Amino acid sequence: MTGYYITMTGASGAPYFLRLLERLQQLEPRPEVSFSLSDAARRVLSDEMGQKAQDLEFPGFEQVPVKDIGARVASGSSLNAGMVIVPCSMSTLCAIAYGITENLIHRAASVQLKEGRRLIVVPRETPLSLIHLRAMVQLKEAGATILPAMPGFYHQPESVMDLVDSVVDRILDQLGLPDAKIQRWKETT
Ligand SMILES: Cc1cc2nc3c(=O)[nH]c(=O)nc-3n(C[C@H](O)[C@H](O)[C@H](O)COP(=O)(O)O)c2cc1C
Repeated sequence: MTGYYITMTGASGAPYFLRLLERLQQLEPRPEVSFSLSDAARRVLSDEMGQKAQDLEFPGFEQVPVKDIGARVASGSSLNAGMVIVPCSMSTLCAIAYGITENLIHRAASVQLKEGRRLIVVPRETPLSLIHLRAMVQLKEAGATILPAMPGFYHQPESVMDLVDSVVDRILDQLGLPDAKIQRWKETT
């Protein structure tokens, strides 16, 4: 298996997506990564970070247009080792849970599930409706990992970026790409 597909949809939390790509760039050896943003994610990236998707630069990583339904990750033969949707909107979460594929992100997620490969969904919405909760159960039963954007506070964060990193650390662990540099919980008493 080679390659990781990192995607952002139109939920709040662009820093999680950007930081995950940054951290993947710093890993040695550097993994093979492609990434996409949904149309709504472009809007959120601009609102939250003042950045345009077309200006994102992660050397060595390929940005794939979300409308390119014929991209490599759209095929089960692509042997994609892992896919992350971070942050994941309720719209995309429900689409994937019920088999709707209107863009490359939906299609690639559906491929990961049908092939029994790693799919990590990082939902962001509050409060959650019964529809959202049922869709999460459906995805979990289909094989996805539900990893909510819920930073922990037990590691004494000093900045917003510490909180972002606490979620990104968990995503890297779940991808099977643990960062050797991170401090892990040590029991104190
Ligand atoms: C600034 C902004 C923040 C948003 N935050 C969320 C959110 O946290 N969760 C969510 O489910 N939708 C959120 N939305 C709404 C989604 O962007 C919208 O449902 C969109 O259709 C999702 O499309 P996508 O799943 O293809 O990215 C937000 C929209 C905007 C403009």
